Amino acid sequence: MKANKHQWPILIVSGQFHEASDEGFRLNEIVAELEDVQYCSVIPSFTYEDAQEIFISRADLGAVVIDWDLPEENPEEFMTPSELIELIRSRNKTIPILLLTDRLETEDIPVDVIRRIDGYLWKVADTVEFLAGRIEMHLLRYLETIYPAFFGMLVKYAEEYKYAWHTPGHMGGEGFLRSPAGVALYKFFGENTLRSDLSISVPELGSLLDHEGVVGDAEKNSARAFGADYTYYILNGTSNVNQVIWRSQVLRDDIAFVDRNCHKSLNYSMVITEAFPIYMIPRRNKRGIIGPVRLSEFSPDTIKAKVKASKLIPDKLKNRTPKMSTLTNSTYDGVCYNVINIKKELERSVENLHFDEAWYAYARFHPMYKNHFGMTDDDLKDHHPPIFCSHSTHKLLTAFSQASMLHIKNGGTVKIVPDEFNESYMMHGSTSPQYSMIASLDVATKMMQDNGDIMLNDIIIEAIQLRKKMILILDELKEKNENDWFFGMWQPEKVMIEGKEMRFEDTDDEVLAGTQSVWVMSKDNPWHGFEDMEDDYAMLDPIKLTFTTPGIDNDGTMADEGIPANIVTNYLIDKGIVCEKTDYYSFLLLNSLGTTRGKQGTLLAELFKFKELYDRNAPLCEVFPELVKSYPVEYEGVGLKDHCNGIHDYFRDHKILDSMQAGFQVIPDQAMRPAEAYHAVVGRKVEYVDLDNMMGRTPAVMIVPYPPGIPIIMGGEILNEKARPIYEYLKQRQDFENIFPGYESDIHGVVRDERSGKKWFKTMCIKK
Ligand SMILES: Cc1ncc(COP(=O)(O)O)c(C=O)c1O
Repeated sequence: MKANKHQWPILIVSGQFHEASDEGFRLNEIVAELEDVQYCSVIPSFTYEDAQEIFISRADLGAVVIDWDLPEENPEEFMTPSELIELIRSRNKTIPILLLTDRLETEDIPVDVIRRIDGYLWKVADTVEFLAGRIEMHLLRYLETIYPAFFGMLVKYAEEYKYAWHTPGHMGGEGFLRSPAGVALYKFFGENTLRSDLSISVPELGSLLDHEGVVGDAEKNSARAFGADYTYYILNGTSNVNQVIWRSQVLRDDIAFVDRNCHKSLNYSMVITEAFPIYMIPRRNKRGIIGPVRLSEFSPDTIKAKVKASKLIPDKLKNRTPKMSTLTNSTYDGVCYNVINIKKELERSVENLHFDEAWYAYARFHPMYKNHFGMTDDDLKDHHPPIFCSHSTHKLLTAFSQASMLHIKNGGTVKIVPDEFNESYMMHGSTSPQYSMIASLDVATKMMQDNGDIMLNDIIIEAIQLRKKMILILDELKEKNENDWFFGMWQPEKVMIEGKEMRFEDTDDEVLAGTQSVWVMSKDNPWHGFEDMEDDYAMLDPIKLTFTTPGIDNDGTMADEGIPANIVTNYLIDKGIVCEKTDYYSFLLLNSLGTTRGKQGTLLAELFKFKELYDRNAPLCEVFPELVKSYPVEYEGVGLKDHCNGIHDYFRDHKILDSMQAGFQVIPDQAMRPAEAYHAVVGRKVEYVDLDNMMGRTPAVMIVPYPPGIPIIMGGEILNEKARPIYEYLKQRQDFENIFPGYESDIHGVVRDERSGKKWFKTMCIKK
C-alpha cells in the first residue's frame, strides 16, 4: 500500500527552532531534510503545552519528535516532557515518539519515559540525513499499522489501477466520464470512492456471504472487540439486522416477547416470521419521557400470564416457551438497562435474548456502561440462552449510513451454529455488497480498539460540561432576576460521591464521568420521575442530552405559561441545528464522536437568541417568516411568546400528556397477528378508513406517532372500546393540526386527506 506520508505530519516539539546555536541550526536542517528530500510534512511546536493542544486536536499525526531539553528559562513552559509523553501515550498507544537528546542526557531519562518512547535521536552526533531517515522510517512503519485488514486490502487493490471487467458497470468510475451528469458525480465523490466500489468477484477481498478471507478476518476482529462469539457485518441497516436475527430463530406460530417501545423493523420481523407477539410495556414519567420496562415484566409468572391472556395464541400453543425476547437498549431517551438483572429473570423463560442496541454500540468501551449492554461479560454464561445484539454502527460510531453489526454470544448450553445462522444472513443479504460500507465497519472497529476509551471519555466529559453549563446559565440569570428562565436538562440535581451529597454542577467532571452510580436511577433520588424505580436497574446515558422546556414540572403540573419543544426545535432547524427527537416539553440531542465544541457553542448561542425573541414577544414573521407566509390568517401579527402560550394552553386544556399516557398504556386486543394483517394488505383486503370512523376497526398497519415514536397500535390490533384512549389521543392530534397548521408531525401509518379546508387522518384498515 502506498501510504501517503505527506498527509501524516510529524510534530516536532522544540524551543530551539529560532536559536542561534549548533542545536538550533541542526534542528532546522533536519526539518529541511524531512520536507525537501523526504517529502514529509512537519508541524513545529515551541512548547510542550502547545504540543499537547496540537496532539489532542489532531489524529492525523504520523510521529512526534520531542526535544528533551527545552531551555529551562522558557517562561511559557508549564509542562514537562515526561508529562507530554504520558499524555500522548494515554491517547495513542502506537504513534512513534522519538526523543531528541544529547548523548549524555539519556542517562537522566526516567524509566517511565523510556518505556513509553520508540527511540532517541542524538541531536548533533549523527548526520542530518540519518536523523531524518530514522524519523521517516518510524513514520512509515506506523502508517502500516493504521489500516485494519479489510480497509487496508481495499486501499491496496484500488491503488493497483487494475483494468476492471466486472460490475459495477461504472468500472472504477470510468463509466461516469461518458456523460456530463456522470462527470459531475465523479468530480463530487472523487476517484477513490469510485475506484473502491468493487464487485463481489474480487477474490483478494474475501467473501462477505461466506465470511471468508479478509472480510471474514475483519468480522472476527470485530467480534473480539465487541465481546461477541460471532459478529456479522450487515448492510441495509439495523432494520435488516433485526430481521436476520429473528429469521434465524423464530418460526410461524412461535411466541415472541417484544418491547412495545420497539423500532418498526421489529414489527416487520413479526410479519416475516409469522410469530405471535406478547408485549413488555415501558413506563413513562409525568413529562412524557419513556422509561424502562419494569423488571417485574420479565418475571416468568408475568410472561406466563401474558401468554395465557392472549386471545390470539391458540390454547394448544400456550405452553410454548417464547422463542425470542427483544428489548430496546438504550431507550430513545438514553435509558440503559442493567442486563445482568434482566438476564437473571429471563434466562429460563425465553429461548433467545435480543437487545436492540441501535443507538448504543459504544457501550463496551467505557467503564461508565459496565453491565449495561447486551454483550457484557459476566458469570451468568453457564445459564443464559444465546444473546443477540443489534448495533447501528453508523448511528453513533463512525460507519457509513446503513452499515451495522450483528453480534452473537453463545448460550451456556445452546450454541449458535454458524452455517445454520448463515442461511438467514444470506436470505437478507445482497450478492452485490458495497465494499466501502464494509470498510467503514472495519475502521469503526479499529478506532474503538485503538482509543475507544479515550474518545468516549472525551465526549462524556464534553456532555457533562454542557450539562453543567446549562445549570450555571440559569443560576446566573436568576441571580439578576429571580423570575428569569432558561432551558433545563433532564439529569440528577444532587449526586452522592463517596457518601457525600454534592450538587451536580459542583462535582468534578472526571468524577461524574468515572462514577456510574451518579447516573443510575434510584427511588431515593427521584429526579428521573419514574415510579417504583428498581435498585441498580437502569441508568441515564450521559451523552444523550434531553433538554427540557418550561411549561411542566417533574410531577406533571402544567404551568400558566409554557414553551412547547417543537417550537424550539423548529427554530433550531431553521438555524441549521437538527435535533434527534422532539417531545412535548423536551428535545434530545446526541453528543457523539462527531460533536465539536463549536457545535455546542452554537447551540447555546441559538438557545439564547430564542430566549431573547421569546422574552420580547418578537413577531412570528421575524422568527418563522415561512410559517406566517403559509398561514397568514392564523399567525399574522402574533408574537412568539403568545404563540408558545397558545399551543401550551391547548396542550394543558386538552391534557394532551395524560391522553398520550392513557393511549400508550393500552395494549389493544389482537384480531389477528401482524403477519395476517400484512397478508390482508398483499391480498388487497384493505381499505382506507377516516379516523372519525375507525372505532371498531382493525388497522392493517402499525400507527407510530412522533412524538414519542412508539407504536400506539400494531397492524391486526382492534380499535375497540378497550382501545378508546388510543382513538381519543389520535383525534386530539388531528384536532391540534387543524388549529395549528404548520405543526403537522410525522405519524407513520396515518395519511392526511384535505377536505373542506380541514385535514383528516385516515389509515389502512382490514376490509369489513
Ligand atoms: C431501536 C432501533 N432499532 C433499529 C433501528 C433501525 O436502524 P437502521 O436505521 O440502521 O435501519 C432504529 C432506527 O432508528 C432504532 O431506533
